[in-house]
Amino acid sequence: MSGYKIGVIRGDGIGPEVLQEGLNVLEAVAALDGFHYELVDYPYSGSHYLETGELVPESVIEEWKGLDAVLLGAIGHPDVEPGLVERSVILGLRFGLDLYVNLRPIKLYAESLGPLKGKGPDDIDFTVVRENTEGLYVQIGGRKSVGTPEEMAIVTGVYTWKGCERVIRYAFEFARKQAAARGGDPGARLTLVDKANAIRPHQIWQDVFDQVAEDFPDVERDHQYVDACCMWMIKNPEWFDVIVTTNLFGDIITDLGAMLQGGMGIAASGNIHPGQTSMFEPIHGSAPKYAGENVVCPLGAIAATAMMLTHLGEDAAAARVEGAVARLLESGRIPSVDARSGISTSAMGEMVLAELET
Ligand code: IPM
Ligand code: MG
Repeated sequence: MSGYKIGVIRGDGIGPEVLQEGLNVLEAVAALDGFHYELVDYPYSGSHYLETGELVPESVIEEWKGLDAVLLGAIGHPDVEPGLVERSVILGLRFGLDLYVNLRPIKLYAESLGPLKGKGPDDIDFTVVRENTEGLYVQIGGRKSVGTPEEMAIVTGVYTWKGCERVIRYAFEFARKQAAARGGDPGARLTLVDKANAIRPHQIWQDVFDQVAEDFPDVERDHQYVDACCMWMIKNPEWFDVIVTTNLFGDIITDLGAMLQGGMGIAASGNIHPGQTSMFEPIHGSAPKYAGENVVCPLGAIAATAMMLTHLGEDAAAARVEGAVARLLESGRIPSVDARSGISTSAMGEMVLAELET
C-alpha cells in the first residue's frame, strides 16, 4: 500500500535516541489513525564523516526532493571541525530544499516547568517564524591574512525582497489561521523583529512588512528591535502571538524561547517550504556528553514528529500526539524536560505512547 516516504537522519550524539522515540510515536499513530509510510535512512552525521570522509552529496539533495518529509535527530560531533557537518546536513537541507520557513512554537505546558515566576501556560504561548534561507547564514565573505596582525573577517547578510516577502506572508497567514482556530479571541498579532535602528539595510524588512500587511487588515501589526524583543520575552511573554524575524535573530531568540518552555529538551521546529518536502527536528544539539545514556528528554523530537504530521495533512494524528504531550506535561508526572528529570528517554517515550490512546 502506498504511503508517505520519510527520510530519517538520526545523526550524532543523542540524535538517534531521541529520534527513535519520535519514530515509535509515528508508528503508533499510523496504526491508530490509519496511514502508511516508509522510512528511508540516511547516515549523514559527524561520526559518518569521521568514518568515511563523506558529507552530503549533491545527488542526495536531489533525492530528498522526492520524499514527503525528513526527520532529523541532531548533528554535531566534538571531533569534527565546528560547522562542517552542520552546514552540510542541516543547512544542506534548508538551502537545498529551499525551506524558507523555520517554524518554532514556544509553549509552556505547566508553570512548574518554566523559569519565570508567575508566568504560566496562558502567558507563554507564541510562535517564532524564522527566515531560513537568507541573512548571515548565506555566509558571503571570508577571512584574509589569517594568523597575521592584519587578519580580517568579512561576512555579508543577504535580504532579498522576495525572501522577506514570502516568509512575512507565511507569518501573516499563520497568525490569521491560529487566531481563527481559537475563535478569534484574542485576535492575531504579528511582531516583526529586526535591528534597523543600527543595521539600516534591515529597513527592507519593515518596508516589506508594511506592504504585505495591507492584505491582512485583521492581523494587528507590531514591531520590535531584537534587543528589546529579548527583554519583552522575559518581562511580558504574554504579549507575543507570532514573531517573524531574520535567520540569525530567529536562531538566537528561539533558544531563549526554548528556555521559557522549560528547556531545550522540549523545543521543536519545522523547516518548511509549503507544499514541498520539508524537514522536522528538535531544536537542541547533539549533546555528546549524554549520548547513549538514555537520560535526555525526547519530547522535542516527538513534538517535531507532530509538526511533520501537520505538514503531511495528518491533522488527527498530529492533534493526537500534541494532546498526549500536553496531557503528560500538565499532569505533573514529568518534573522537568532536561536530562535531570529522573525519567529515562525510553520511559518518557513510553509515557507518550500510553497517552496516545486516551
Ligand atoms: C538551530 C541550530 C543551527 C542553526 C546550527 C546547528 C547550524 O542552532 O537549528 O537553531 O544555527 O540554525
Ligand atoms: Mg539554534
